[in-house]
Amino acid sequence: MTLPAKTLHPADRMAVLPPYFFHGLNQKIARLKAAGLDVIRMDMGSPDLPPAAFIVEALKTSADAYTHHGYMPFGGTPNYREAWAHFYGQRFGVELDPTTELVGLIGSKEGVFNLALAYVNPGDVVLVPDPGYAPYTVGAQMAGGEVVYMPLLVENHFLPDLRALTPEVLSRTKLMWLNYPNNPTGAVASLEFFAEVIKLARAYHFLVAHDAPYTEIAFDGYRPPSLLQIPGAKEVCVEFNSMSKAYNMGGWRVGVACGNAEAVQALGTLKSNVDSGTFRPILDASAVALTSDQGWLAERNATYRKRRDLVVDALRQVGLEVETPAAAIYVWARLPESVTATDYTEALLEGAGVSVTPGRVFGPSGKGYIRVSLGTPTDRVREAMARVIKWGLKAG
Ligand SMILES: Cc1ncc(COP(=O)(O)O)c(C=O)c1O
Repeated sequence: MTLPAKTLHPADRMAVLPPYFFHGLNQKIARLKAAGLDVIRMDMGSPDLPPAAFIVEALKTSADAYTHHGYMPFGGTPNYREAWAHFYGQRFGVELDPTTELVGLIGSKEGVFNLALAYVNPGDVVLVPDPGYAPYTVGAQMAGGEVVYMPLLVENHFLPDLRALTPEVLSRTKLMWLNYPNNPTGAVASLEFFAEVIKLARAYHFLVAHDAPYTEIAFDGYRPPSLLQIPGAKEVCVEFNSMSKAYNMGGWRVGVACGNAEAVQALGTLKSNVDSGTFRPILDASAVALTSDQGWLAERNATYRKRRDLVVDALRQVGLEVETPAAAIYVWARLPESVTATDYTEALLEGAGVSVTPGRVFGPSGKGYIRVSLGTPTDRVREAMARVIKWGLKAG
C-alpha cells in the first residue's frame, strides 16, 4: 500500500504568530557582546531585584517537607487561593470567594492567553489596547476571534476612547482587555474610568479582563486601584494579577485570575486539561508574600522611582517627549518626527551599547515611541543614561 505523499509542517494557526521580537534581539545582542560591546539592557520588562529574604526562606522550608513534591490541586492549593483573597481584601477592600472566584496560574501570561481559548468563539470581537501586551492579540487570534484595536493616545492619557467604539463593534464584542498600570505606556486609570468601562460591558454583555500585574509598583504616594473595586464589577470582570512584578518573582511563574466566577471556572476547566499547576513550595512562599508585612515594597519602589527619574531626565535632555509615569516599570517616550524609532533604537544599541524597545513592537500606535524598562541595576541605568545623552538623537 502506498501512503499519500504529505509533508511535515506546523498547524495553519501558527501563521498568526509573529516572530518574537525579543528572541531576535537576544541573538543580536549576543553577537554584539561577542564582538566586545558592553551592552546595557533596558528593553525587557524583567525585574532585576530579588524577592525579600523571608519569601525565599518560605520556599526552602516548604521544599524540605517530604510531602510537598507531588501534584497539587488544579488551580492552586487552598492556602494559595486564600492568600490572594486576603490580599484583595486588605489592599483593595474587594471580597473574593477563594474557591469559586479565584484560580491560580503559571504566571499571568498563560492565563491571559488561555482566557481567550476558554472564552472567545470564532468571529467574536476582542477589544485590545494598542500599544499593548502581545498575548492579548495572539490569544484572541488563536481562538479565531477578530481583534479590534483600541488606540492608546497621549491626548487621552493613554486610555482607550470608549466613545470611539461603535455599537456595531460593541454588539459583537465578547471580551475587552485593559491593563493599568499600563505596559508599555506607564499610564494609570482612575476608578471613574473603570466605572465607565463596566457600564459599557453591562450594556453590551461582554467580559472585561483587566490585566493588573503592576498594581504594587507605584510612586509618589499613588496607589493603583483594582477594577474589582467598582460595585458589581464581578458580574462582568475578571482581573489578572501575578507575583512576578509585585514581588520580584518573575522566574517563579505564579499568578492568579479572579472575579467573575463563570470566567474563572471556564479558565480553570481549560487549564485542568492543559497543565498540572505550580510546585507547592512556590505556592506556599507566594502565600507568605501575600499575607505578610508589605513594608519592604516601599524601598523597592523607591529604587524604581530613582531609576525612573534618571531616565525621564535623560530622555528629556535629548529632546524626547515624556510623561513621568506614576506606576509600573516603564518610561514611554516619543521621538521627534525626524527620527524613526527603529533606526534610533538600532543605532543606540550598535553605537552606544544601550538597548531599548521600539514602540511599534507593542502595536501600530506605538509608532514613533520607545519603551525604556526600569528593571536594570541603578548604576547601569545611570551609565546607560549618560551614554544616551552623549549619543543624542543620531539614528545611524
Ligand atoms: C501587562 C503584562 N501582563 C502580563 C505579564 C506577564 O506576567 P507574568 O510573569 O505573571 O506571566 C507582563 C509581563 O511583562 C505584562 O507586562
